[in-house]
Amino acid sequence: MIETLTPPRRWDPVVKITHWSIALAVLANALVTEEGSGPHIWVGYGLAAILALRLLWGLIGPAEARFSAFWPSPRKAIAHICEIREGKVTHHRSHNPLGALMVFAIWGSLLTIIATGIAMAGPPPWNGADQPGKYGAPVTSAASAEGFAQRTLHDEDEHHEKGEKGEKGEEGPLEEIHETAANLLYVLILLHLAGVVFETRRSGKQVMVAMLPFKR
Ligand code: HEM
Ligand code: HEM
Repeated sequence: MIETLTPPRRWDPVVKITHWSIALAVLANALVTEEGSGPHIWVGYGLAAILALRLLWGLIGPAEARFSAFWPSPRKAIAHICEIREGKVTHHRSHNPLGALMVFAIWGSLLTIIATGIAMAGPPPWNGADQPGKYGAPVTSAASAEGFAQRTLHDEDEHHEKGEKGEKGEEGPLEEIHETAANLLYVLILLHLAGVVFETRRSGKQVMVAMLPFKR
């Protein structure tokens, strides 16, 4: 096996913290929170803030965290596949060219999920999908039957505008895109984990160690 020597990969605390918080938020919204509920939307906005920090870091962070260090390139990705086939290991200070494609694919699906999620949820307060005051107006008084009827009618109009569930429960476009992007994300995460295991076995445990919290 041919190896080229470069200093071992290291990630700064912002990359590590944003990575593990994004992973946690995705798992929470995929497995724990109820779809469209208040907690789902809160976690979603948290996820949006963390991703925004990581993307800003891609512009102003240290060299290996910057987009310029791992800008996706199909040509480099193909060259990387050829290296794998030849048993050649090149160490990269940042994501390797295949990893870079994966990172941008994960970010792309996260941005789609966030954009459609925010478009459906709107501004706070969020009461959750199954409550009469869905996402918007808080429902504090049961006294106003008239207000409730008006709000329900208004909500239905709003759902059609925003592309949420219609009267018959069919999915609107935003909801469909949100769900499809979430399903795509799950597939990408499985491929990401397979890639991490593969790359760790191929070029050493530093690949994994570098992303662990409290390790340098
Ligand atoms: C990666 C994180 C996320 C995952 C895995 C996820 C997953 C899902 C899934 C599977 C649904 C059900 C879709 C359907 O009924 O067909 C859903 C619904 C919803 N999500 Fe997310 N979501 C995420 C992030 C977000 C974010 C960032 C927001 C907004 C800030 C959000 C807001 C909503 C809303 C409002 C609904 C309810 C749609 C409705 O029934 O009208 N989600 N989410
Ligand atoms: C929901 C789960 C996950 C998501 C959405 C996710 C997403 C990502 C993203 C976006 C990056 C790029 C980091 C950056 O440059 O900011 C990354 C890198 C990485 N992730 Fe994950 N990840 C997840 C789970 C995991 C898990 C469970 C592990 C450990 C087994 C892991 C190990 C790594 C490693 C080692 C890297 C660095 C790869 C490299 O050196 O090129 N990830 N992940």
